[in-house]
Amino acid sequence: MKLQSALNFSHTLLKKAVNPGDNVIDGTAGLGHDTLFLAQLVGQKGKVFSFDIQQSAIDATNHRINENEVQHQCEVIHDGHENVKRYINDQPISAAIFNLGYLPTGNKTIITKPATTLKAVSAILNNLTPNGIIILVLYYGHPGGKEEKNQVLDFAGNLDQHQYNVLKYQFINQINDPPILIAIQKRTKSS
Ligand SMILES: C[S@@+](CC[C@H](N)C(=O)[O-])C[C@H]1O[C@@H](n2cnc3c(N)ncnc32)[C@H](O)[C@@H]1O
Repeated sequence: MKLQSALNFSHTLLKKAVNPGDNVIDGTAGLGHDTLFLAQLVGQKGKVFSFDIQQSAIDATNHRINENEVQHQCEVIHDGHENVKRYINDQPISAAIFNLGYLPTGNKTIITKPATTLKAVSAILNNLTPNGIIILVLYYGHPGGKEEKNQVLDFAGNLDQHQYNVLKYQFINQINDPPILIAIQKRTKSS
């Protein structure tokens, strides 16, 4: 057994949380890796809402889902995730993932920001199904990254424990700001 990286662990959690037919969100499409992964989990009867503000990310994501023939169940949206409510309306959401920071192959000055990240997370929490999960993988070595990390940790750490279980996963003996995974799960009466 090998301990998983934050990124691999995010996929392990998504696999457990997502069922065929579900509605899910990729809040930061980038090159479309998570969008493809989610599209395969929800199948043709489900739906992935995938957001990015960079045209190159939208193009890369569309290319990846077309190549893998999962475009039917994907809506790739060239808009900020802070506007997520406009697209999901009242639809139930079983999972969402955000990879925060910048796109290594894209414009490195385009970074996720605390106010917009938290606006998106708050909106999705309202639509989250019981046992549904929001995952944030925090990369924070870049300018502005630590501020976002601190605000996300503060927000997640202050969620009502009667309503949500919140997990923090990180290797704590690594140099160079190892990524942190935060998972927020909506509790049911028995969980
Ligand atoms: C770390 S990358 C995501 C990597 C991606 N998960 C992948 O598999 O390639 C972060 C992405 O967030 C995007 N982004 C930044 N601010 C955003 C916002 N307000 N709404 C949506 N996407 C945003 C950036 O353009 C960038 O592509």
